[in-house]
Amino acid sequence: MSESYGMAGKRVLITGGSGGIGGATARLLAERGSRLILVDRDEAALAAFADELRSGGAEVLAIVADVTVEDDVKRYVAEAVAGFGGIDGFFNNAGIEGKIQSALELDYSDWNKVIDVNLNGVYLGLKYVGRQMVDQGSGAIVCTGSIASERGLPNTVAYNAAKHGVLGLVRTFASELGGTGVRVNAVFPGMIDTRMLRNIASQLMPEMDGAAGAAAAGAAAAPLGRVGRPEEVAQLVSFLMSDQASFIHGAGVPVDGGALAVMDNKG
Ligand SMILES: NC(=O)c1ccc[n+]([C@@H]2O[C@H](COP(=O)([O-])OP(=O)(O)OC[C@H]3O[C@@H](n4cnc5c(N)ncnc54)[C@H](O)[C@@H]3O)[C@@H](O)[C@H]2O)c1
Repeated sequence: MSESYGMAGKRVLITGGSGGIGGATARLLAERGSRLILVDRDEAALAAFADELRSGGAEVLAIVADVTVEDDVKRYVAEAVAGFGGIDGFFNNAGIEGKIQSALELDYSDWNKVIDVNLNGVYLGLKYVGRQMVDQGSGAIVCTGSIASERGLPNTVAYNAAKHGVLGLVRTFASELGGTGVRVNAVFPGMIDTRMLRNIASQLMPEMDGAAGAAAAGAAAAPLGRVGRPEEVAQLVSFLMSDQASFIHGAGVPVDGGALAVMDNKG
């Protein structure tokens, strides 16, 4: 097997492309020779990250867009096609954590913010990148679910409902797109050490700093006894996008240190 693991020259679009998991995936795929289209709403972080990857020799298109805005989604697809001629891999990954609050207390406006990014944005990406890939007759889509796609988690009702919804989207698109040459799957990260998890941890455990809180949350949730690294999610995304995963379709694959394998690891 070559060092590119089948990803050299692939045109890969990543939403949330300058964040923790999206950024680690972009780095790995740049090393493997993919051509990248990075989409994020954080203009400054996106520009700096794209420059860093380019200075390492990668070919990168950076597109500032909000995944909840339908015209932005149409535009990021159109710009990717104008720039690179098509899209081979799509990591449908942008997400927010929202407010950490009980289901009985959460404001409807806070519910809507999370559903908008984590469910509506994922649907819009599937729809418009999916159309492009069906026209091409090929492509592989990976959506970011979560261990929250399969389990209830207290104080995260909108996040949890949206992540369950991501699995429903993946299964439905998989059922519709069989035979088109397009595969659709999800990854289910467990506790992964990024800005998002550090922010959640510092809200739940204000006595600890975010990094220590993320480490503690990861150790408590997973039989492997530690928090995950975004690079560990990136490895799975790369595999699912490659032709090595040619018979994997409609799946949600955990990358969680075993968290979903156990009922409760609190001892
Ligand atoms: N970190 C974890 O423990 C964990 C676990 C399971 C799933 N996830 C999921 O992984 C994905 C990536 O999260 P992360 O941990 O890398 O967090 P992160 O905050 O580091 O990255 C998220 C990125 O998405 C971007 N983004 C947010 N809303 C956007 C919008 N409307 N339009 C465009 N870009 C937008 C942000 O600017 C940011 O760059 C999310 O879907 C998250 O729910 C994370």
